[in-house]
Amino acid sequence: MSWWTELALIEQAAMKGSEYAAGSLLTVADLPVVEVAAILAATDRIEQMSGAERVRMLAGRRIALLFYESSTRTRTSFELAAKSLGAITTLVSDKSSSIEKGESLKDTGLTLRALGAECIILRHANSGAAYLLAKATGLPVLNAGDGMHEHPSQALLDLRTILARLPDVNAGRVDAKTLHGVTVVITGDILHSRVARSNAMLLPKLGARVLLCGPAGLLPEDALGLGSAGNTGGVEIERDFDKALKQAQVVMMLRIQRERLAGLELDLGDYVARYQLNEERLMACAPNALVMHPGPMIRGLEIAGEVADGPNSAIEDQVRHGLAVRTALLVRALGAGGFESVTV
Ligand code: CP
Repeated sequence: MSWWTELALIEQAAMKGSEYAAGSLLTVADLPVVEVAAILAATDRIEQMSGAERVRMLAGRRIALLFYESSTRTRTSFELAAKSLGAITTLVSDKSSSIEKGESLKDTGLTLRALGAECIILRHANSGAAYLLAKATGLPVLNAGDGMHEHPSQALLDLRTILARLPDVNAGRVDAKTLHGVTVVITGDILHSRVARSNAMLLPKLGARVLLCGPAGLLPEDALGLGSAGNTGGVEIERDFDKALKQAQVVMMLRIQRERLAGLELDLGDYVARYQLNEERLMACAPNALVMHPGPMIRGLEIAGEVADGPNSAIEDQVRHGLAVRTALLVRALGAGGFESVTV
C-alpha cells in the first residue's frame, strides 16, 4: 500500500462516525465551497474593521498554540491574528514543555483545556495528530500542519492570494467556477508536502486545474486521487517542468525537504537542472505566471533568488494573506457570535 493511500485511509477512519467541535479546521477535504466563501468573506470584513472594533471580537478568549515542529509564518501569524482580536495566547512548544519529558499529545491537550484553553492551534510531525487532539479534547482545533497530511489554512491563504493577484478572476464571487480556466502548477516534493495535498484538494473545488510536477520519486502516480469526485476541476501530472509551466497561470514551488529524503535517490544537481524555477525558465515558459512558495524556501535549490524577489512573486503577499485569513479562522473557531455576523 502506498503512503498516500495510507493517508487517505487515516482520513476516512478519522472522519467516520467522529464528531469534532464546530469551528475546527482539520482538513480541506470536507470543506464545502460555501464555507470557503464564508471564510474569505469574513476575512474581508475583519480586515476592514478598525483596530478598536477588531480587538473586541475575541477579547479575553484563551487560545493555545501547540507546536511540535518549527514554524515561522504559521505560528507568528496565528499568534498576531489572535492578539489583534483581543485574545489571550499561550505558546507550548515541544522544546520547552513537559512534552520533552514524554507527555502525550492527549495529556498535553487535556492539560491546556484544564487551564482554560478554548481553542488549540496544532502543528505536529504526525499525520492525523489534529484529529486525535480534537477528539481527545472536544475543543475546536485548527490544524497548522500535521506531518505529510494537510495544511488547511495555508491552502486558504494561497487561494486568497490567487484571487487577489490574478487579474481575470472575480474575487467577489467564490463558487465552483471561480477558478475555471486557471491552471495551477505545483512543483517539487509533492510526496512529502501537506501544502500540496491541501491545495490539490481545495483549488479544484473552485474549478482550478491543478498540474502536479516533479520526478517520480517525489510525485507518486496516486497523487491523481486528490482530484476526487465533486470537484469541477481536476488534478493531473506533467513531469516535464517546462511543458507544465507553459500552461500555468500560477506556479507554486515547494521546498525540497532534505529531512525527509532518506531512502530516496535524488541527485540534487539533476533536480535543480530539471525543476528549479529560475529567471530564464520563467521568462521562456510563463513570463506572466504568478509565482508562489509557502516557505520556508531554499534559494538556489527549488527557486532562484531573482525569481523569489522578482515582479511575478507573490511570496510576501502569501504571508500577509495568512495573517488575514487566520483572523477569520479564529473567529470561526470560537464562534463568538461573530463569524456569522461578519459573513453576512
Ligand atoms: N508555510 C509554512 O507553514 O511556513 P512555516 O513552517 O514557517 O509556518
